[in-house]
Amino acid sequence: MQILTIPTTPISGQKPGTSGLRKKTSVFQSRHYLENFAQSIIDATGGAERRTFVVGGDGRYFNDRAAQVILRMLAANGARRAIVGQGAVLSTPAASHLIRLNGTDGGFILSASHNPGGKDADFGLKFNMPNGGPAPEAVTEAIYARTQTITDYRVLEATDVDLAKIGEQELGKMQVSVVDPVADYAALMESLFDFPKMRTLFSKGFRMRFDAMCAVTGPYAVEILERRLGAAPGTVTHATPLPDFGGMHPDPNPTWAHELMAEMMDPGAPDFGAASDGDGDRNMVVGQGIYVSPSDSLAVLAANVHLAPAYRGGLKGIARSMPTSGAADRVAEALGVQAHETPTGWKFFGNLLDDGRATICGEESFGTGSDHVREKDGLWAVLLWLNILAERSETVQEIMKGHWSHFGRNYYSRHDYEALPTEVAATIMDGLRARLGDLPGTAVAGLTVEGADDFAYLDPVDGSRSTAQGLRLRFTDGSRCVLRASGTGTEGATLRLYLERFVPGPGGLDQEVQQALAPVIEAAEALTALKKLSGRNGPDVVT
Ligand code: G1P
Ligand code: ZN
Repeated sequence: MQILTIPTTPISGQKPGTSGLRKKTSVFQSRHYLENFAQSIIDATGGAERRTFVVGGDGRYFNDRAAQVILRMLAANGARRAIVGQGAVLSTPAASHLIRLNGTDGGFILSASHNPGGKDADFGLKFNMPNGGPAPEAVTEAIYARTQTITDYRVLEATDVDLAKIGEQELGKMQVSVVDPVADYAALMESLFDFPKMRTLFSKGFRMRFDAMCAVTGPYAVEILERRLGAAPGTVTHATPLPDFGGMHPDPNPTWAHELMAEMMDPGAPDFGAASDGDGDRNMVVGQGIYVSPSDSLAVLAANVHLAPAYRGGLKGIARSMPTSGAADRVAEALGVQAHETPTGWKFFGNLLDDGRATICGEESFGTGSDHVREKDGLWAVLLWLNILAERSETVQEIMKGHWSHFGRNYYSRHDYEALPTEVAATIMDGLRARLGDLPGTAVAGLTVEGADDFAYLDPVDGSRSTAQGLRLRFTDGSRCVLRASGTGTEGATLRLYLERFVPGPGGLDQEVQQALAPVIEAAEALTALKKLSGRNGPDVVT
């Protein structure tokens, strides 16, 4: 087998976003595209010589082909070993776990997460560090810089590795270990939660629905929920991962997981519902007749996490992304632990977790996780909820109401304006940014602006600074809105408007969310002119 050095030239636009590089599948399939980016990752992270990497993805269209290319490139770059999920499949949290469990030098994760998959949809690639977490900004910047100067890449001339077969193989001088994608992850979950107690819950007739959305979590959920915990067969729906996710948009939110929502809002609904996304790191949680917003879910999980065996000792701290509601901060205060506010994207939690400053983290975008891996973890959140339900013997509804009456309620919603022309989005963002200094004191829709800024973050562990992370408007009554541009889209620009209002209770805890937020929504439009300038009647997706 021969190592080929293929001359290439830089390809523009290979800049990793919030979570790796995401592009249309056809772009990734175009000549040298994947190879240039993979070689840039290798070069920018110190080379692959004698190193061990994890390789796997969410199984979407092109996943298997891309994995074979990366394996041949790792072999050509001198890697010692690659650990690959069978069929090149690994959920993102399972990949993070394998990276850590095997003490590897990092991993190549093939996924565009919750973006649709298929020939005409999206593909993605990201690199995770030896701690199991997404590469931090300094590294993604170095990778991007390398894509702009690359002159050649190395690839082994070889036939495909048989990724269907579990066991050891060789690719040139590199050892390829094909592993069961589920086994180690399921064992990790079993070590964190009270499986016997959860089994008892199911044996007493507790009913659950888990919508895997034809994405990667299916086999993980069937193994853990149905086989190990004894949930009724068929609890997991859309359980078979498909390259195009069966045409579903594998994003677990009320809009895209509408089948699950309809079932859970029905009078005969199961006790508990949940869904996960394309690569298994997101989760949505729904009770009988009640949707749990991700920001609330983080707060409830933090307040109850001590009920799960692995967390009995309590929390070191709670971290949330800036646009996530402040509900978790109230729990942190009550527990007397640190509360951290980071920019959007899981990569910012890595240092806090590694440094023992946080145990549990979350984002409003359906992401929750803990220090058990360095990614958000959809099934983990679902299992923690189940563990809490088993311990508290209350319904989701009772738990939510109890939480709000104790801590008050942070009404919260995100309005997405998708695929706007890039110039329009820039005009809206730049226009608001330019006026931030003038806004304090402005009265609008019955609210008064107290403060306005462009969020910047100073990482307390490594001292790195990240700027331009979202425009924040804070009102005197504690409400706020945030406007930020998405860093994961592949078409035009998506703007996200995050809205929040706190009601301390005891009254007013049962309002309809959009209604409770009406003044903030009105003030946000008056200050950002989002609808007016975008020419849209309203958001495309409301979560
Ligand atoms: C979105 C979410 C963000 C999440 C990321 C990856 O990024 O908003 O919280 O970390 O997907 O799942 P965005 O498109 O907003 O940049
Ligand atoms: Zn995801």
